[in-house]
Order: sequence, then C-alpha cells, then structure tokens
Amino acid sequence: MIDNHGSDMARGSLRVLLLGGTTEASRLAQALAQAGVDAVFSYAGRTDAPVAQPLPTRVGGFGGVAGLQAYLQAERITHVVDATHPFAAQMSSNAVQACAAAGVPLLALERPAWQAQAGDVWTHVADISAALQALPAEPARVFLAIGKQNLAPFLACTQHWYLLRLVDPVMDLPATRGHVVLDRGPFTLEGDRALLQAHGITHIVSKNSGGAGAEAKLTAARELGLPVILIDRPYIPGRTTVGSVPEVLHWLGVAGH
Ligand SMILES: NC(=O)c1ccc[n+]([C@@H]2O[C@H](COP(=O)([O-])OP(=O)(O)OC[C@H]3O[C@@H](n4cnc5c(N)ncnc54)[C@H](OP(=O)(O)O)[C@@H]3O)[C@@H](O)[C@H]2O)c1
Repeated sequence: MIDNHGSDMARGSLRVLLLGGTTEASRLAQALAQAGVDAVFSYAGRTDAPVAQPLPTRVGGFGGVAGLQAYLQAERITHVVDATHPFAAQMSSNAVQACAAAGVPLLALERPAWQAQAGDVWTHVADISAALQALPAEPARVFLAIGKQNLAPFLACTQHWYLLRLVDPVMDLPATRGHVVLDRGPFTLEGDRALLQAHGITHIVSKNSGGAGAEAKLTAARELGLPVILIDRPYIPGRTTVGSVPEVLHWLGVAGH
C-alpha cells in the first residue's frame, strides 16, 4: 500500500509536475485535467510534433538534478509523477535525487514489462551492447525496434540489414543497408505481421517497453516463429512505482472526485 500524501490536502493546494513522453503520461494528464488539478506537463522535446496535452506544458531538460530541484522550488511543486518511458533512466534517476533534495514526494507511473508466452523465442539481454552481441555472426535481416537512440553500434555491424521504425525523419539508409519506416504507434498485429513479412525479417531487437501500443510486433513474431532479442529495463532505485492512473490519483488524494 502506498502512502496517500494528498489525503489531507485540499485539491486546490496541489501543484503537480508530470514528467511525460508516454501514453500513460497522456492518460494521467487527461485525468488530472478532468479532476481540475493544478499540474504542469513536461516533455523532453525529443519529437517534432509531441502529442498536445490538456495541461499547461513545458518543453526541454531542467539542467540535471540541480536544475530540477530549482524548478520544483521555484514553481512550488507539491508532487512529482514520473511517467517517463521505462528506459528514460537519466530523467528518472534525476527525479529521485531532486525530489529527495527538495523534500517533494515522488511517484513513478510505469506500465508492466512484457512477459513471454508459449511460442515466444525471446533472448533477454541486459543492455544495448548485450543485444548487439546476441545477434548472429552471419548476415541477418533485423527489425531494430529501439527508437532513434543507440542505432550507431548496430549500423556499424555492416553484415546485417536493418529495418528502422522512427517517429521523425532523423536518418535514412541506402537500400543495401536497410529501410526506414516513419510511423507512430499504436501499431496493429496485421500491420506488423505485414511489415515483418514484406521485409523478410529474421530477427527483432526491442526494448522491454511494455504496454499495448508497441506489443503487436511481439505477437507477430510469435506467430511467425521469429527470434526476439529483448532488452531488460534499467532498474531505478529509491522510488515507489504504480501501474495505473487511478493509483496515482489515490496517491494525490483526488481519487473519486
Ligand atoms: N528512452 C526511450 O526508449 C523512450 C521511448 C519513448 C519515449 N521516451 C520519452 O522521451 C523522453 C526522453 O527520453 P530519454 O530516454 O532521452 O530520457 P533520459 O535519457 O532519461 O533523459 C535525458 C535528459 O533529457 C531530459 N528529459 C528527459 N525526459 C524529460 C521530460 N519528460 N521532461 C523534461 N526533460 C526531460 C532531462 O534533461 P535534464 O537533465 O536537462 O533535465 C534528462 O536528463 C522522455 O520523456 C521519455 O519518456 C523515451
């Protein structure tokens, strides 16, 4: 059971910083706006056209732990909800440290990790370099479903052909090296099955992001018997994590309003 920091606090005295960039953050923003909670939504500013939010929104880094601590104090933030992506480890660790230093309670909202099912051919690896090592030595046709970061070490393995799926047109590949698809989730099973087949994919590399929006490629891989190299989430110590929007509202003391 998590502490309900907001239970004795009038909703009017709350001021929440919501660290976003995920579907869960957008759902929470909707719920906070509906509940009339004073909240600021924060984006890193990584995508050209971020999803519009029903809350006042700020964009860009805070300037490390010290910058975030200063922001919390200047903006009189009473609660921080970290709903960043499970792989946004720098931001999450900064939030733990800055909230501790500023005396502001912190809660993480994180979707559960994906779990293997019968028929899955998954190799679990700890990080990007282990994922690279897990690819075969012989040429493979790899769906590199890891976003736009950390592509370089894979592309340096020139024997493989890579399918990339990106939100923004940050790079292109010659047809001999791979193909870039511009798309933003949620993705469908039909679409991902067709994508894997059209490009003759033999291996998938994915972060264990969890959630429904990017799960279709794993279901399609199961159907097609394709191996998946799944990168484990980084562990963020020193914080409490919940998995749903109602649990966050309860923590803030606004559940049921
Ligand atoms: N990593 C992924 O696979 C992934 C996937 C989908 C979405 N995203 C989203 O994309 C954003 C960046 O992810 P990342 O992996 O680059 O993060 P990261 O490595 O943990 O963060 C790097 C720096 O970016 C700034 N930052 C990150 N998230 C922020 C936010 N919500 N508001 C303000 N500043 C933020 C912070 O800068 P300062 O130190 O200057 O404060 C942070 O130190 C996150 O919001 C995340 O939710 C990430």
